[in-house]
Amino acid sequence: MTQEQATDHASLEGLVETGMLPLESLHPGGLDTTRQLAELCEIERGTEVLDVASGTGESACFLAASFGARVLGIDHSDEMVQRAAAKARTQEVDVEFITADAASPPFDDSRFDVAICECTLCFLDKARVLSEMVRVVRPGGFIGMHDLYWKEGASEAEKLTLAEIEAEKPETLEGWRRLFEGAGLEQISTIDKSAIMSRWMSESRKQLGLAGQLMLALKIIRRWGFGGAWRVFRSERVFSSGLLGYAIVVGRKPALSAMHGQET
Ligand SMILES: C[S@@+](CC[C@H](N)C(=O)[O-])C[C@H]1O[C@@H](n2cnc3c(N)ncnc32)[C@H](O)[C@@H]1O
Repeated sequence: MTQEQATDHASLEGLVETGMLPLESLHPGGLDTTRQLAELCEIERGTEVLDVASGTGESACFLAASFGARVLGIDHSDEMVQRAAAKARTQEVDVEFITADAASPPFDDSRFDVAICECTLCFLDKARVLSEMVRVVRPGGFIGMHDLYWKEGASEAEKLTLAEIEAEKPETLEGWRRLFEGAGLEQISTIDKSAIMSRWMSESRKQLGLAGQLMLALKIIRRWGFGGAWRVFRSERVFSSGLLGYAIVVGRKPALSAMHGQET
C-alpha cells in the first residue's frame, strides 16, 4: 500500500487536498451527484461498495447512512484516510477506509457488488484503474463514475494547461464510453451533468464570499508564491471556460453466463 501525502502543488486539486478550500464533497454537485450515481448503480441496503479515491469520506459515509450500503473507501493519501475515518466515527457509521493506490486495490476478484470513482479517474491511469474496478466487482455488478469531459471546441492549449497544472486528462464523452466498452462493460449509460459545473464554480465563490476569496488568494501566495497563484488562476480559467463538461458514466460487468458465452 502507498503512504503518500496529499497533493501539495499550485493547482485547484492542491487547494482541495491540502484543505485550503474547506470542502467535504470534492466534486461538482456534491451529494446530489453521488445520490444519482448510487441509484444508477442500484445501490441499496447491504450492497458491498468500493469507493475508489474516497477523499474526505463524505460520499462513503453518505452511502452507508442513506442507502444502508456496506462501503469500503480507499485513497492513496494517509491524511485523507485519517480524515475520512474520523468522519465515520463522528457520524457513527460503519465504513472502513484504507490507504491504497487505485491502480492496485488490494482485494480479491469479484469482492464487491459495485465500484465507484468520483471525480478522480481523469488524473489517474484511466484504463488501468477501470480494469481494476472491473476485476474486484462480481459479474453482473456495476462500475460507476463521474468526471470531467472535454466538449467540442476545446483547444490543445487548454488540454495542455489542465494536464500540466492539474495532471488531469479528461476524455470526450464518447471517449469515456469507449473506455468503458474497452474494459468489457455493457449496458453503458452516460448522463450529461455539465450544468452543475458552472454552478459549482459560482457557488464555491459565493460560499467563500469576497473576503474569503481574498484570504484564499493570500494563502495561495504565502504557500506557493506569485507563480503558484498564476497557475491556479490559469487552471480556474479553463474550468470556467465552458469547454469542460461533467458526466456520470455507468456500466455493468457481464454476468458469468455472458462472459462464458453460455445461455442463461
Ligand atoms: C478530487 S478528490 C475526489 C475525492 C472524492 N472521490 C470526492 O469526490 O469527494 C481526489 C482524491 O483522489 C485521491 N487520489 C489521487 N490519486 C490517487 C490514487 N492513485 N489512488 C487512490 N487515491 C488517489 C486524492 O487523495 C483525493 O482524495
